[in-house]
Amino acid sequence: MLINITYKMKDKILFSLTANKKTVGKLSKILNIPLGKTKIEHFADGEVICKTLTPVDGKHVFIIQSTSKPAVTRLFELLLLIDSIKRSGSKKITLVMPYFGYSRQDVSWNNEPVSCEVIAKIINVSGVDELITFDLHTPRIHSFFKIPLKDIATTSLFKEYYEKLFEEKNIKSSNLVIVSPDHGSNERAHLLCEALNASSSIILEKVRPHPNVSETLFVAGDVKDKICIIIDDIIDTGGTIVNASKVLFEKGAKEIYVAASHAVFSKDSMNRIKTVNIEDIVITDSIEKKYPHGIKVLPIADLIKPLI
Ligand code: R5P
Repeated sequence: MLINITYKMKDKILFSLTANKKTVGKLSKILNIPLGKTKIEHFADGEVICKTLTPVDGKHVFIIQSTSKPAVTRLFELLLLIDSIKRSGSKKITLVMPYFGYSRQDVSWNNEPVSCEVIAKIINVSGVDELITFDLHTPRIHSFFKIPLKDIATTSLFKEYYEKLFEEKNIKSSNLVIVSPDHGSNERAHLLCEALNASSSIILEKVRPHPNVSETLFVAGDVKDKICIIIDDIIDTGGTIVNASKVLFEKGAKEIYVAASHAVFSKDSMNRIKTVNIEDIVITDSIEKKYPHGIKVLPIADLIKPLI
């Protein structure tokens, strides 16, 4: 058995580019799988060239890269590395995208592009054999892929985190309400509600009059004196969680906790978030960056590990 496992590990190789170096380094150590070397250079006109320096003949290659900011640059690095690896005779390429950038433009109104479908079309023909993502913005994205796609929920990370925290704080699950700040996170809220055995999960009504501006209209459900956990896939400008928190406090919520899978935290988001009294914010490191002070960060590597 041990011989088999060793053989399987030897057959695999991990690659990182610029986005998730810490996660990939950690996985390489824990799983004892070698890290492939890459060379990324830029031509005088700014065009990027990216190749593998490690032979990958007959290997199952895992490339781990979020298409987080700068999304286009990171997408292009990825596409060129995939091509280089494919040309060097790899047996199989699994692409792991902890954060899938451009996922939010998923429907077309007034001839707007469906950006996530465009990205999916490119990945379909890139040479990748399969794709693994985490908490995709919407299940609709599945239908844009022709290659096998596994989208993994981050619920188990948040479950473990909150169980420990609420035990320390002596918060009972019967006093918990899980809040989806819009219709898109409803499924996520249900999953967390079940995992924590919370009293209920509710959905808020959110509208977006303009890009980057959101308004939360009402709360259907009783939150009076409850401990609320708002769960969302992304924190970007912070507008969604701030508006949701305000409405929940108006309706009598006692305390508010926030969980989000992907920490975009665009400029000024933290100043906006500080205007409301949120007890605790927890995210994953699907996007590696310098996180604002006081934010709790859970390792996405824990969810990637069993998939390699
Ligand atoms: C949108 O539908 C997403 O699920 C998030 O709610 C949104 O991206 C959060 O963005 P912001 O922090 O800018 O409100």
